[in-house]
Amino acid sequence: MRRSRILGLGKALPDRVVSNFDLEKLMDTSDEWIRQRSGIAERRHVVPGRETTSGLAVKAAKAALDDAGVEARDLDLIVAATLNPDYFFPGIGVFVQEALGCDTIGALDLRTQCTGFIYGLSVADQFIRTGTYERVLVVGAEIQSTALDFSTRGRDVAVLFGDGAGAAVVGASEDEDRGILDTRLHSEGKYAKELWLEAPSAMIPRHEELAEGLTPRWYPAMNGRRVFTHAVRRFTEAIGEGLEATGFKPADIGLLVPHQANLRITEAIGKALELAPEQVYSNIHRYGNTTAASIPIALTEAVEEGRIAAGDLVVLAAFGSGFTWGSAVIRW
Ligand SMILES: CC(C)(COP(=O)(O)OP(=O)(O)OC[C@H]1O[C@@H](n2cnc3c(N)ncnc32)[C@H](O)[C@@H]1OP(=O)(O)O)[C@@H](O)C(=O)NCCC(=O)NCCS
Repeated sequence: MRRSRILGLGKALPDRVVSNFDLEKLMDTSDEWIRQRSGIAERRHVVPGRETTSGLAVKAAKAALDDAGVEARDLDLIVAATLNPDYFFPGIGVFVQEALGCDTIGALDLRTQCTGFIYGLSVADQFIRTGTYERVLVVGAEIQSTALDFSTRGRDVAVLFGDGAGAAVVGASEDEDRGILDTRLHSEGKYAKELWLEAPSAMIPRHEELAEGLTPRWYPAMNGRRVFTHAVRRFTEAIGEGLEATGFKPADIGLLVPHQANLRITEAIGKALELAPEQVYSNIHRYGNTTAASIPIALTEAVEEGRIAAGDLVVLAAFGSGFTWGSAVIRW
């Protein structure tokens, strides 16, 4: 059976480091509160106007292509995941296609927020397994900092999120025992408004919306408690489903690379699945939650740090706005 596998990985992070202490100067918060509730010590923010979401995506994509030893002209499809594209439309995929100098291949944007990379990987996997395409670029890129409220009013959300991009080149696996073994995708729109950004909205004529000024609707809003409890439940379920479908147990996991939402969520999943600390990857202290970019950034760093070796069972899982969630089980 034909399988797909990750041929190369890359990441791109803005140079500007914003620590919890920097945020203390902007709002009523503290390093202690942020670390204790989320595990985050610092995150990266772009210099507004100087870097774009698609620009970060392109940097990560170039690094992943280099790592894979694949030329941009040999890509067959671009799958880009972001919740904050350069423009309302078109999406960032087409700008990535242009900047990489690809042929006029398909470029699609996914809007599944923190689960974007898992959805993208699943899309790539389907196209490759069916033999339609040979090489697909999956990139998650986010600039959150320009859309956050850095006053005390927005502190529950603003301290958690950061900017960055991560990418994977996915291609056919020559070894049928290695590669992406399973992906699982889910959604539950009933909870869409528990973590969302309401404006701009197609339901309101532009002139009316602009006349209202900069109200809270223009900033992301989150019911933190509800998101937390659903996240722990859905992450754990999605990992369990993937393991069951592939015939593995939690003890078989070489490394779990979860979406970096919150260290407390990651720890709760590890506890629920009875995983040892060395089975779970975390880099949230450095970057905060970079939504669709967090898994490919984490995967890139896990490989760089020697935490993943050929043959390891690697499990990816994510949960986020939508609600959306999912998992991927990979034999590396
Ligand atoms: C947001 C979150 C960290 C809040 O943690 P929590 O344990 O629920 O918060 P607590 O109940 O202990 O504290 C809430 C209090 O802290 C305050 N607070 C909120 N943000 C704060 C901040 N950045 N700094 C200081 N205080 C803050 C609140 O106003 C509230 O104050 P009050 O009790 O006077 O009303 C937590 O709910 C969470 O992690 N949720 C999931 C978030 C997430 O991962 N989202 C992305 C999913 S992909």
